[in-house]
Amino acid sequence: MKLVVLGLGYVGLANVAYLINHGQKNVVAFDQDEKKIALFKAGRFPFKEAALIDNLKKASKKILYSSSSKDIADADAYFVAVGTPNKEDGTADLSFLDSAIEMISKSSKGSRIIIRSTVPVGTAKKIRERLKSFSVISLPEFLAEGRAYEDESSPYRIVIGATHPADFEFIRNLRKTEVNNGTPFYYMSNESAELAKYASNIFLAMKISYINEMARLSEAVGADINDVTLAMGADPRIGHAMLKAGLGYGGSCFPKDGAALLETASHEEVSMLLPKATSAINDTQPLYFFNKIKERFPNLQGVKIALLGLAFKAGTSDLRNATSLLLANLLLAAGAILSAYDPSKEARDAFAAVYPSITLCESKETALQGVETFVIVTEEDEFAHMDEKGLLALMAGRVIFDGRNLYSTHYFHYFEYVSIGRAAVKPTI
Ligand code: UDX
Repeated sequence: MKLVVLGLGYVGLANVAYLINHGQKNVVAFDQDEKKIALFKAGRFPFKEAALIDNLKKASKKILYSSSSKDIADADAYFVAVGTPNKEDGTADLSFLDSAIEMISKSSKGSRIIIRSTVPVGTAKKIRERLKSFSVISLPEFLAEGRAYEDESSPYRIVIGATHPADFEFIRNLRKTEVNNGTPFYYMSNESAELAKYASNIFLAMKISYINEMARLSEAVGADINDVTLAMGADPRIGHAMLKAGLGYGGSCFPKDGAALLETASHEEVSMLLPKATSAINDTQPLYFFNKIKERFPNLQGVKIALLGLAFKAGTSDLRNATSLLLANLLLAAGAILSAYDPSKEARDAFAAVYPSITLCESKETALQGVETFVIVTEEDEFAHMDEKGLLALMAGRVIFDGRNLYSTHYFHYFEYVSIGRAAVKPTI
């Protein structure tokens, strides 16, 4: 059986690695970007996905990486995993999807198109109407960055949207391991599968905005949001996941999918208050934290500040919708002098390209040298265990802003400690 995966971001590549590791012998990994293909052929993968990269390297001889349309002819199935970024107005830009579909239509007289990309509800139906000799299957991915291979190979559930029983069976055959290990499979229409993806992502984003809003109240009434979430999450109907108060969510999925869902709702003239509030709260969260910095430093002109954590979340190198960018804009506009650090070199390089005036450092210690204060922007492990005496020796000032609540409010003695949803703590020494 010949299988082609089009679009080699981390979703497409995780799909490729899964297929190879589950016995498929003829897998073509296609991307129009020739530079990308050359990199992958050389065993270089420019993102932080340890398990995925490890699996791809092990399987390198079995994968045909290609940017030539000749290599994708006459496949039994085409997986489409191209990007669907947002346009200015929030609607999904389907131009990559359209060109993938166009290529498929020229490469095969008829087979299966399996859509992994997150696409607006109704997309599968439109493709089916356009290419009558193809079956169109929706197989949404639920991968988080940094653990793409883990999520692809051990999913919580497999959602299949299709119209023919043979298409459901086709996916079950490809995913025999999950059939056998008891992973739940859900069979539904393409529209339901497409919506299930958006509904899941926006629900997770909603939990984050809910807790961030609650954090503001927690602070106002003298509660500790970390204790509040501990108590809440103990109820399995609520759960602990996605309830960490912080600087808001970023990344390539939640912001984009929230905007696209609202566009669909508005197109259908359905009013959706919760997704709207979710994104509005998230938009103001970095500003809410910046105001805490402003309160402590009313005049930021010339104040030296370090930003720790630049990617949109710990463990990745991705800057898309990263809070670091919003905070940097606000701090620079107020006249602060910034240094910055992220464990990922790719993240540092991408950040440096946006902000030539910010000093990018190769260690947090270098970034902290001589600063008045620093802001913890992401939940990296190395930011959660800093030695107070070490900080005293490095820094000029004695204030810490923790945008991820990584420390207990009793941890620091020499520093003023400002976090989220908890009272600021003055130094005790
Ligand atoms: C997310 C979903 O988790 C995944 O299922 C979906 O397929 C794609 O979108 P991802 O964007 O990679 O994955 O990251 P995730 O780990 O979910 O974090 C998203 C953002 O929310 C990050 O900026 C993170 O810092 C923030 N976050 C996460 C919080 O602020 N609090 C939390 O409790 C969890």
